[in-house]
Amino acid sequence: MDTVVDVPFRLLNRKAHINSIESYRAMHTRSIKDPEKFWGEVASEFYWNISWKRVLSYNFNVRNGPIFIKWFEGGKTNICYNALDRHIQEGKGERVAFYFEGNEPNTFTSYTYRLLLQKVCKFSNALLKIGVKKGDRVIIYMPMIIELIIAVLGCARIGAVHSVVFGGFSSEALAIRIVDAGAECIITADGILRGPKQIPLIPIVQKAIGICKDNNLVVSKVILKNWVGFKAEDEKFISWDNLVDTCKSECSVEWLDSEDPLFLLYTSGSTGTPKGVLHSIAGYMVYASLTHRYAFDYHEGDVFWCTADIGWITGHTYTIYGPLLNGATSILFEGIPTYPDGGRFWSICEKYAVTQFYTAPTAIRSLMGLDSHFLEKHDLSSLRVLGTVGESINSEAWLWYYKAVGKQKCAVVDTYWQTETGGLMVSPLPGAAPAKPGSCALPFFGVQVQVLNPDGTPAAAGQEGCIVFDRPWPGIMRTIFKDHNRFEKSYFSVFPGHYTAGDSGFFDEDGYLWVVGRIDDVMSVSGHRIGASEVENAIALNKDIAEVAAVGIDHEVKGQSIWVFCVLRPQGTLNEGEIILYSVPNLKLKLAMVELTNDLKLKVRQQVGAFATPERIVVVESLPKTRSGKIMRRLLRDIFSRVKKQKLGDCSTVSEPQVIKNLVKQAMTLQL
Ligand code: WTA
Repeated sequence: MDTVVDVPFRLLNRKAHINSIESYRAMHTRSIKDPEKFWGEVASEFYWNISWKRVLSYNFNVRNGPIFIKWFEGGKTNICYNALDRHIQEGKGERVAFYFEGNEPNTFTSYTYRLLLQKVCKFSNALLKIGVKKGDRVIIYMPMIIELIIAVLGCARIGAVHSVVFGGFSSEALAIRIVDAGAECIITADGILRGPKQIPLIPIVQKAIGICKDNNLVVSKVILKNWVGFKAEDEKFISWDNLVDTCKSECSVEWLDSEDPLFLLYTSGSTGTPKGVLHSIAGYMVYASLTHRYAFDYHEGDVFWCTADIGWITGHTYTIYGPLLNGATSILFEGIPTYPDGGRFWSICEKYAVTQFYTAPTAIRSLMGLDSHFLEKHDLSSLRVLGTVGESINSEAWLWYYKAVGKQKCAVVDTYWQTETGGLMVSPLPGAAPAKPGSCALPFFGVQVQVLNPDGTPAAAGQEGCIVFDRPWPGIMRTIFKDHNRFEKSYFSVFPGHYTAGDSGFFDEDGYLWVVGRIDDVMSVSGHRIGASEVENAIALNKDIAEVAAVGIDHEVKGQSIWVFCVLRPQGTLNEGEIILYSVPNLKLKLAMVELTNDLKLKVRQQVGAFATPERIVVVESLPKTRSGKIMRRLLRDIFSRVKKQKLGDCSTVSEPQVIKNLVKQAMTLQL
């Protein structure tokens, strides 16, 4: 745990932007002392149609009135212009923006900044032609292909608000998001290629549109990119290729207010439906760009690769916006790390001479488990920075990443952040300071992070507490779409005056931050953020279920896997007493249990998506509850987690201690 790895930075004959802890500290102090000056200077690098009047105004304390955050007020700009046109104006139009690497290794192509701009302009014109206007919400549900990026930027150019939905979500989950966003336009494709699988999207979209109709929302425009070759029988769908074909490849830019919305991205909270996290234009633009430049030590000529799906925030900020705003060359990869074999990531790194590689601990752990020849046969000497995000990385995986992938010559940056923060918040900077495997190190510029005790006082070094941020940074979300009240309650009510991240962690003696995990009921499965309530609502649709709790249980590769604990209805079709403890005495009951398990898994797949399928369904006699009747998921997690914890945490609030005894007994029999 306490290993310190000194700056192992492969400088490749050039200096890191921040090459000592002193220069990091000096710049961080400057960003905190005078944020207006600091961020004003950063923002000046961009093109503004009208300059801002005021860098920052905000209220971070609910006691002083409504929470608000405004950056660069009075300014008018456009993020698409800054991501594409600006570089072409500067003579960089022939630079590659994206190397597209398809699912099959022999499908690849590249897009220069000039070509990408032409395609984006054509698509913006297409959107205007079918009546999409500034401020309209547009749902994008697509595979990881260049058209997804074109769709995102095409919206941004005309001021439409994009909301990308991860391609793994089911029709029900997609419909919830379309309805909440009030979107009348969907951009999609016929299917997704994922390794050996071809997943059709048309039926999912059709079903989602039907659900929207039942909820009084008419989706009147569907643009369909033909990609896999599935036929669309629905005449209402507009063919992407036909629509774009007749459109001009120039499109004027809509100059937008700094605080106009840029995108909505739905994410899970501990309760209720997914939250539409709203990000606005100028602050997000400035923050995405600066974090990308410094945390990955991006320099001209680098080839940057963030493997995250664009359906999540990491893909928004570090596959699309951050790199493009810095005029970088990136990889867009459609496939999966294990197809056609377990060396695919490394073969792509070699093929394009990738310099920065950014992925999730779950991918690192799964690749670590494969035969070493998948890695060793590739030349990875171009790599300088290795990034990770999404969950804490255990030191074993960190060290494998550092040694086996980076050959002890690359900086490993463990970046801690959230959908809500827009960009990374706490991270080592390559070349600036020694790293500690498992710690995300030090706050980024403009970020003030604290760990607080429950009474709001700062926790001492080594003491676990709640992670909070003290002041706004430009990338912070502005609200939850249509629910500002929920925004204030979720993030600003626990510790007035601070943004509460919902994670616990501690600082060590050197001021390095260690994230421990969520304090709420949000689970993280293979880096995918899933709310307990979303899974529980799906399970509760089965008529045999009386009560349910979904919990993330420690998992060696995925970080967590979902276990569902349920109490059966006494009058249900199953005989609960006999199923308990899996001491199923007869075949009939055994089959009933299999049937129940299958049905519950199917319900989750239908309501949320296959990536949220529970790993285990455990029937229990009772769920542990507080005296006020709240289910204690934390306790279930402690009892059933593979990593045997010595203590069970505080059980003093459990209403019936016998419930715990029974659960522990049951956990023992499950051969964990
Ligand atoms: C977790 C992903 C430990 C954390 C960018 C956070 C991490 C949630 C790290 C946000 C990290 C993210 N170390 N935990 N480096 N990065 N997390 O919104 O619990 O999908 O609150 O954003 O992931 O997940 P989200």
